[in-house]
Amino acid sequence: MSRFRRIFKCHARLGRLGEPMQVSVNTNDNINGTLVLPLWQDSESMPSGSEGGVPRALKSQIDTILGAGDFKAKSGTAMTLAGTDGGKALLIGLGKSDDATLQSVREAGAKVTASLSKIHGKTITVKFSGLEVDHMGAFVEGMILRDYSYDKYKSKDDDDDSDDGEIEVHVTCEADKTEALQKSANVSLAVASGVYLARDLGNAPPNDLYPMSFAEQAIAFGNEHDNVKVSIINYEQAISMGMGGLVGVGMGSARKPCMVIFEINPDMPGPSPCIVGKGITFDTGGISLKPPPSMDEMKYDMHGSATTFGLMKALVASGHKDRVIGVTCMAENMPSSNAQRPGDVIKTYSGKTVEVLNTDAEGRLVLSDGLWYTGTKLNPSYIIDLATLTGACVVALGHEASGLWSNDDDLRNKIKEAGEHCGEIAWPMPLFKAFEKEMTDSKIADVRNLGAGRWGGSNTAAAFLKQFIPNKAGTDEQIPWAHLDIAGTAWGAKTNKLVKNGATGVHVRTLHHLITGQ
Ligand code: BES
Ligand code: ZN
Ligand code: ZN
Repeated sequence: MSRFRRIFKCHARLGRLGEPMQVSVNTNDNINGTLVLPLWQDSESMPSGSEGGVPRALKSQIDTILGAGDFKAKSGTAMTLAGTDGGKALLIGLGKSDDATLQSVREAGAKVTASLSKIHGKTITVKFSGLEVDHMGAFVEGMILRDYSYDKYKSKDDDDDSDDGEIEVHVTCEADKTEALQKSANVSLAVASGVYLARDLGNAPPNDLYPMSFAEQAIAFGNEHDNVKVSIINYEQAISMGMGGLVGVGMGSARKPCMVIFEINPDMPGPSPCIVGKGITFDTGGISLKPPPSMDEMKYDMHGSATTFGLMKALVASGHKDRVIGVTCMAENMPSSNAQRPGDVIKTYSGKTVEVLNTDAEGRLVLSDGLWYTGTKLNPSYIIDLATLTGACVVALGHEASGLWSNDDDLRNKIKEAGEHCGEIAWPMPLFKAFEKEMTDSKIADVRNLGAGRWGGSNTAAAFLKQFIPNKAGTDEQIPWAHLDIAGTAWGAKTNKLVKNGATGVHVRTLHHLITGQ
């Protein structure tokens, strides 16, 4: 009965920079390598329709184990089996079907790639039976997303073959669902290529990834695609344009700051979605120096820009046809004799002056110029910025959700829904007038870069950014804008099952879904 099932043939490259596994469709119901069986909780036997090609002894062993309740298939569980006739199986629990969400099934898929070991070998066949296409798609997506590790700087260890080499993944399901699943897998693969890029960038060491090396990668990406235009505002140009925020933060480093502007399908008519990223390639805090513990992690302070670049790649890979803009504000925040000081007053691109009270509150300074430039020069339908902006956001929301602030209810709701769909929660936070007042009562300048006290630090940061959103042309109403503080979600927490460790690539999928509906 499974004779006409198609098979996805995935050649996954583990442990390499770049691309996720490839998928091609075959019509073959043999089992290649280890059988991977996703099971609903309390299944008492192999689901009917999934027996094709399964060695007889292995099938009866699986049925015995399930019949006896020795594997209950609770969510998050897995069991490895070696059949007496040589077959091998990996049983994966999906939990109760009534409780299943896209995210719980995604995490079950991730469990497969996380569990792969020498025992299972490099070839597996995932057999779905009785699952909706959405669930199968989420499972495949979870497998792909978890199949990433950052090993660029590791010398090869001959004894450890868990992290390298190619795996071959076949996926089968009922014949009437294969086409839809193939489509879904193709989108997942396209988007995952952007997630992988964002992770590669977030994980890259700060001696190799600095503002102009990020810009060079962006230019190379632009050269690879006819429908992508990449332009750079370099340090000298930023000075002459009056981008005092970007210049102030970056001038203390030998690696000078820059802004990178990506345009996907630049010839399509605007207005278009514009995504703006904080891109601090290393945040020492500057003269307001950070304490040593975990300072190394401040290499991921450019994850807003990493997500922006990753999103651009995802959109190109999935064949998006409309115009989308990405703007990344790149700088390295260093203490030096020509670094900015607490007490300095800078003039931003908007013309507003800012009293710099703490040089560690630098993300908002580079973003002030990126947001104003985007709002006034790039014809946005809306602006979304992403930034590892505040430790206070991690205090508020932990690693479970990004903070979400917006001046537009509709945009806020759409981002929240897209995040929920993708399992990347963005949680609404307030933009009270009191926060704006706090940030605009500098004694010497228009705006201050530090709240009056430490309370509500992620809210005052958002209120600062709001000062740099221009009005829609000819109106006194601001351009729709949302701010995502990803300080707690951009770096792998134990609770994030879709990544082994390090940079998560957060919100590439959310924004791809928001923009394309896919
Ligand atoms: N990059 C940090 C925020 C951060 C903290 C990101 C932890 C990821 C994990 C940011 O530039 C910063 O230092 N913010 C200060 C702001 C303060 C000086 C108002 C902070 O959060 O302490
Ligand atoms: Zn900082
Ligand atoms: Zn920072």
